[in-house]
Amino acid sequence: MSAGGTKKKACVTGGNGYIASVLIKMMLEKGYAVKTTVRNPDDMEKNSHLKDLQALGSLEVLRADLDDEGSFDEAVAGCDYAFLVAAPVNLHSENPEKELIEPAVRGTLNVMRSCAKAGTVKRVVLTSSAAAVSSRPLQGDGHVLDENSWSDVEFLTANKSGPWGYPVSKVLSEKEACRFAEEHGISLVTVCPVLTVGAAPAKKIHTSVPASLSLLSGDDAAFGVLKGVEMATGGVPMVHVADLCRAEVFVAEEDAASGRYICCGVNTTVAELARFLTEKYPQYTVKADLLSGELLEKPRVRLSSARLVKEGFEFKKKTLDEIYDDVVEHGKALGILPN
Ligand SMILES: NC(=O)c1ccc[n+]([C@@H]2O[C@H](COP(=O)([O-])OP(=O)(O)OC[C@H]3O[C@@H](n4cnc5c(N)ncnc54)[C@H](OP(=O)(O)O)[C@@H]3O)[C@@H](O)[C@H]2O)c1
Repeated sequence: MSAGGTKKKACVTGGNGYIASVLIKMMLEKGYAVKTTVRNPDDMEKNSHLKDLQALGSLEVLRADLDDEGSFDEAVAGCDYAFLVAAPVNLHSENPEKELIEPAVRGTLNVMRSCAKAGTVKRVVLTSSAAAVSSRPLQGDGHVLDENSWSDVEFLTANKSGPWGYPVSKVLSEKEACRFAEEHGISLVTVCPVLTVGAAPAKKIHTSVPASLSLLSGDDAAFGVLKGVEMATGGVPMVHVADLCRAEVFVAEEDAASGRYICCGVNTTVAELARFLTEKYPQYTVKADLLSGELLEKPRVRLSSARLVKEGFEFKKKTLDEIYDDVVEHGKALGILPN
């Protein structure tokens, strides 16, 4: 509550998305009035969880598209905080420049302009990604990457290998958002989450959830994403979605927060994960053929959340055991795993 007794207001963009749905629930439980945006509020297949969340508090669902200039004005107006979570996340786009990079940057600036117009927003929290930190060539083992590390846009655009457009979209969106924030006196904080897993109200299945369960489900394509993370970055860093959303709220509410924050609960590898899952879930069989080929024994590269922790944030889920607490049940509920 604010000093005058009215509820603090927050805007969360992309409310039908995986991470945004957890953040909205958390904000409502903390007593915030929340405004969220979706591209089509009438699409109940994507939005039914938002109807359920309205039982928890004041939640307004508005129509907005990152491609429509000014369409976030109403959603951001009067808000104390704006969480920019919506973004194109099409990893396998045929034309990443046109379908991922340009719309991501343009869309981020579109919402930033709405924040500047609103004049009430005390803090903007942009959800970037570890993809903006760790997609860069590194020789040898034992690297620890912090917020000073940026993915190498020149290298990525020259090689165009794998889902190269996604890290580029995240680096450029972050940099353009920072530039705009400085020019317009907006207080911007960026959170760079690693592979995000765990239960969420949204029924839509985002890539990171099937990837986290792929060793148990045997889904080759989803496993390809998990292995792709290890090959591209030298390890599999993971965070539980509840910790990520707690961190987003933490950096919004902490006056002193600034700049970038990596959000990572644990650094692991595919091989370590396979051993952990085999032991913890003997009812499922980890498909041995997925584990053929070159796999890392230990992470070559680790992502560090030391800055977030030093500034007072506490992760609740710091081991694979804690992180996987609700992942399997969630996978069953979504039909990714058999009951
Ligand atoms: N999940 C992870 O492991 C992970 C890790 C690091 C960073 N992130 C970042 O976290 C954010 C949320 O990702 P997520 O995992 O929650 O994925 P998600 O469930 O696919 O959410 C993406 C959201 O963005 C919206 N969106 C895409 N294009 C849009 C447009 N033109 N206009 C308006 N909305 C648009 C989507 O709406 P539609 O449903 O209408 O397409 C959806 O609500 C993204 O910025 C992503 O890069 C995710």
